[in-house]
Amino acid sequence: MNLILLGPPGAGKGTQAERIAATRGLKQLSTGEMLRAAVKAGTEIGRRADAVMKSGGLVSDEIVIGIIDERIDQPDCANGFILDGFPRTLAQASALDKLLKQKGKTLDAVIEIRVDDSALVERISGRFSCAKCGAGYHDLHKMPKVAGTCDQCGSTEFSRRADDNAETVKNRLMAYYRETAPLIGYYYALGYLQSVDGMAPIDEVTVQLNKALGA
Ligand code: AP5
Repeated sequence: MNLILLGPPGAGKGTQAERIAATRGLKQLSTGEMLRAAVKAGTEIGRRADAVMKSGGLVSDEIVIGIIDERIDQPDCANGFILDGFPRTLAQASALDKLLKQKGKTLDAVIEIRVDDSALVERISGRFSCAKCGAGYHDLHKMPKVAGTCDQCGSTEFSRRADDNAETVKNRLMAYYRETAPLIGYYYALGYLQSVDGMAPIDEVTVQLNKALGA
């Protein structure tokens, strides 16, 4: 099964993709995570993406389409993948259609996680993750079970994303409405779109997603 999770910054795409990937044996492909890894490693792509990401804008279509083209051919995607943060423009959606066709793969579902704009800034500014394994947490909604210790790997080091500040969040939201929101109509017209209520508690959103995806 290959699917896309759509939604604004902070909608819960990463949180839900991690859960669905784990229970269904799919590979989570987050272009944001891949770009952050490239920035950290100081690669050519990372150098080109760094300033754009810090400003809250979108990295060029050419870069992210190239990343996905290469990534979905890897053996760990053979059982299916969840695209989290891609596509983000109509050009990326159209390139994905062509890539899937070329590779003999299909798209099985596109699920939009709907969230009120007012909740997004709070969600993003409270977010942090384990510096070692990347497990995600939130100051108000999802603290580690033992304070200061990662539930998944036991590390005591945590980090916050460089683009998770109020000013950048506004730019990320603007980029979403300008470039990414039209994809909701695009996938609706193609007959793929389903929606879940991302304002519900995290577990409830997972239940809705599993219902949408079927057995
Ligand atoms: P990316 O990493 O994709 O960031 P984003 O889309 O802004 O999404 P986020 O990761 O911020 O949010 P999310 O929806 O995953 O929410 P999460 O689950 O973490 O992209 C970063 C940057 O990379 C972009 O700005 C761009 O520059 C570049 N980029 C990436 N892909 C690109 C592309 N295809 N093209 C061009 N540029 C690209 O949840 C947020 C918080 O809320 C968490 O703390 C979570 O615990 C909490 N939470 C989640 N669900 C709930 C709930 N139901 N109730 C309460 N709290 C919740």
